[in-house]
Amino acid sequence: MIPGSCIAKATSQINNNNHQKSTPSKITRKRLPKPLQLVLALQAVGLAALTAFTGAKAEQAKRETAYRASILHFLSDPATTKDKSYEYIKDGLLIVRDGQIVSAGPYKSSIAKLAKTSNVVNYSGYLITPGFVDAHVHYPQVEIIASYGEQLIEWLNTYVFPAERKYSNSQYAREKAEFFLSQLIKNGTTTALVFATVDPTSVNAFFEAALAKNMRMIAGKVLMDRNAPAYLLDTPESGYQESLNLIKKWHGVGRLSYAITPRFAPTSSPAQLQAAGRLKAEFPSAYVHTHLSENKNEIAWVKSLFPERKGYLDVYHHYGLTGPRSIFAHAVHLDPKDEVNTIIKTKSVLAFCPTSNLFLGSGLFPFRTLRDAGARIALGTDVGAGTSLSILATLNEGYKVAQLQQQKLSPLEGFYLATLGGAQSLSLADRIGNFLPGKEADFIVLDPKATAISKLRLDKSQTLEEMLFALMILGDDRNIKATYVAGVKQHEQP
Ligand code: GUN
Ligand code: ZN
Repeated sequence: MIPGSCIAKATSQINNNNHQKSTPSKITRKRLPKPLQLVLALQAVGLAALTAFTGAKAEQAKRETAYRASILHFLSDPATTKDKSYEYIKDGLLIVRDGQIVSAGPYKSSIAKLAKTSNVVNYSGYLITPGFVDAHVHYPQVEIIASYGEQLIEWLNTYVFPAERKYSNSQYAREKAEFFLSQLIKNGTTTALVFATVDPTSVNAFFEAALAKNMRMIAGKVLMDRNAPAYLLDTPESGYQESLNLIKKWHGVGRLSYAITPRFAPTSSPAQLQAAGRLKAEFPSAYVHTHLSENKNEIAWVKSLFPERKGYLDVYHHYGLTGPRSIFAHAVHLDPKDEVNTIIKTKSVLAFCPTSNLFLGSGLFPFRTLRDAGARIALGTDVGAGTSLSILATLNEGYKVAQLQQQKLSPLEGFYLATLGGAQSLSLADRIGNFLPGKEADFIVLDPKATAISKLRLDKSQTLEEMLFALMILGDDRNIKATYVAGVKQHEQP
């Protein structure tokens, strides 16, 4: 039972024929030409979604368009290959056709190659980067962002569970999913790993909204069979079956993938974690998404619930839930030897959520120590415990979390984590994260001088690193001039 309040329940036969689903990307490639696949998927979901993407927007995606601006993208991790890790083209041209990157190069040489019929959009004075990646966020919690005064367990009981209850209503869930995705886009985030709620309705609503925008999104139904209000509980059997149905319905459709999503060890029984591990074994290309070692009371609670396990991470490891497609949010208080070794050995990913860790008073994520040790790390906003959907604001707080531990988070590293690093952490770097030819054209147009203060700061000094640092410390949605998803403009400030 969650200390200080709430409550609290064999596994069903697995009979799936989806073993061939090796990776979502492979499924998509093998099945059908992309536009046709998308249209069929949209038809399956409903006419409203179909009309949202076809017509003018689909036409825009097909045509060749070139964007003139400064261009920055990463080819590797700047922590290991500093100067060669990125390409910065001060006067560049990004060429996009049929939703994919054709090339990113200097304006002068690229414009000569451009077909006469292509559009050229002039963003001179702005900076184009790949869209941001948010590796941990809860869409049903946007409405309780900035809720006062509690730490993790009390905060969940007081604010989160009552809010998540509302997402059993499909219209409500759809409206909120739509709002959430449009806020992500305004903030320059084009890919996210997202918690829904325990009710499959919330997942269907989310995927329908993401499909209509043709976004690359990963989400899943929360598994939670104990230590939460009865109105939010599933069972090992129902959680398994509902997750299975959702995987079959959504995993690999359009640009969507499924994440098996046990909320955290305290709200799942051993039987439920075992069922989650079985699902993962049945669908190796699905993700695992959960929370880990965020708060000291939570860790003590896990120890009391699972005395037979070596520690918190060992609970997940024991049930087959660690691995390269497993993303663990927080990991603020890992055992520096045993647990860090398991994270590294299993190639599991940690989502660093600084605004959340500070807001809930959870602690300081040992960013540099973990990264230098070789852990895979991504950035997460963790809204509603996180205080902003902006990855720029997340970098701002991340920098300070590092500073408080006498550690560094450089601007190059920050922008790498926000783009290619995030894509690599989600095993999506063959699809998104930089501007190599053939990648999906998710990109943003940043305005480094969007505010009077950033303009004053940058009018004096203009090295790339200074510009990136000012963006990551002062930036937010005001700096996102425009956001393109698979080559289609989804947002532009006047
Ligand atoms: N641990 C379990 N559930 C949650 C949640 O919704 N948010 C955060 N930050 N931590 C959790
Ligand atoms: Zn979270």
